[in-house]
Amino acid sequence: MPGPGIELIGAEETAEVMEVMQSGYLSRYGPSDDPAFGAKVHRIERTIAELTGVRYGLGLHGGGSAALWITLLSLGVGAGDEVIVPGFTYVASISAIVYSGATPVLAEVDETFNLDPVDVEARITSRTAAILVVHMLGAPARINQLKAIADRHGIPLIEDCAQAFGATYEGRGVGGFGAAGTFSFNEFKTITCGDGGMIVTNDETLYERCFAMHDQGHAPDRLESKYAPRPFLGMNLRMTELSGAVLLGQVRKLDQITSHLRANKAIVKDILEEVPIIDYRTLTDPEGDLATHLVVLLPNAEMAREVAADVGSKTLSESGWHTYSRMNHLLEKRTASGKGCPFDCGDPSHSHGDYRAGMLPQTDALLERSMSIGIGVRDPNLAPFGLRMRDGADEARRVGTLFRDAVIKHRA
Ligand SMILES: Cc1ncc(COP(=O)(O)O)c(C=O)c1O
Repeated sequence: MPGPGIELIGAEETAEVMEVMQSGYLSRYGPSDDPAFGAKVHRIERTIAELTGVRYGLGLHGGGSAALWITLLSLGVGAGDEVIVPGFTYVASISAIVYSGATPVLAEVDETFNLDPVDVEARITSRTAAILVVHMLGAPARINQLKAIADRHGIPLIEDCAQAFGATYEGRGVGGFGAAGTFSFNEFKTITCGDGGMIVTNDETLYERCFAMHDQGHAPDRLESKYAPRPFLGMNLRMTELSGAVLLGQVRKLDQITSHLRANKAIVKDILEEVPIIDYRTLTDPEGDLATHLVVLLPNAEMAREVAADVGSKTLSESGWHTYSRMNHLLEKRTASGKGCPFDCGDPSHSHGDYRAGMLPQTDALLERSMSIGIGVRDPNLAPFGLRMRDGADEARRVGTLFRDAVIKHRA
């Protein structure tokens, strides 16, 4: 079982889903005067907007990928623009930029394993249309610094919070600091409905544009679709009431999830601290760490590979499509049609992107000597070794001891 939420699916989610089934209203739009209509999508949008401290939430059928794509398009990002994105992220952050027509500009991560603000600023050009910060592996990036840079240059900051629902920064849920935040509810995430996503924003115009894009140009009416003039052509990425219902059941378990993960992470870390050569990722706000992962750094790449092999894990540099140098489809600039921007722009003044293994040496050096011990996420590509949500303190001690002993064995 991959993420924490899915391991807790039970009576609450079933009851919410049964309500939808019995009501007969499966779409997000229903009559406000029929008490049988549960407005589940609307309610989960409100709940998640409140958790992130913003006014608007927009549920999506299309996952965190669609949430990013719609946000970029609704911010007006397109051909000829550049978007700065970390080289360590799930490939979807980059694909969403590509399918907006803009050029992804890869930037370094620092010891937070999130965007390095100094490198971001150095990559800003007159074409930069957005900075896409990804809160990787459950921990917030250097939000204040990145927001200050974005503001200074008049560029919107988008937070990709797919891996960080439930993480906080200075007491506020991630997602509400920039122009918009996006979440994923796939089965690897904090809470899940199988697949789904959400955009959160405080900006009414942006919300209306995102809403229109996700539903054929309609204006948001939350409960019923309004056949009003439409600002532009849209698509259909509406979340269904079934997904909304599952998420309503899941979100009530958020505190249970975070407190359990934090307790297990502390147990593992206590054991590892007996071996001082193990280093850790820098947490920008330790109180706000979601604790789905414990990222450890070993003194060099060789030792990291050996320890990883011993415990049946892999270094983060080998973590599938989370590391730019492993994204072969990006390196080869392959898109569905093979036509159009960003890689095949008619206009020679557009930047077509530059993607090569080795182009982010700081990121490479960090990833090759680090790995994640999964605390609540078991992902064969990212964290094959670790704990699951249902594991208790005994298993946390066993996993911590196993890892500690593997490091001791290879330290000589
Ligand atoms: C950082 C990041 N961004 C975006 C996504 C895309 O989310 P989804 O799978 O819901 O489309 C993911 C999913 O794994 C992710 O980890």
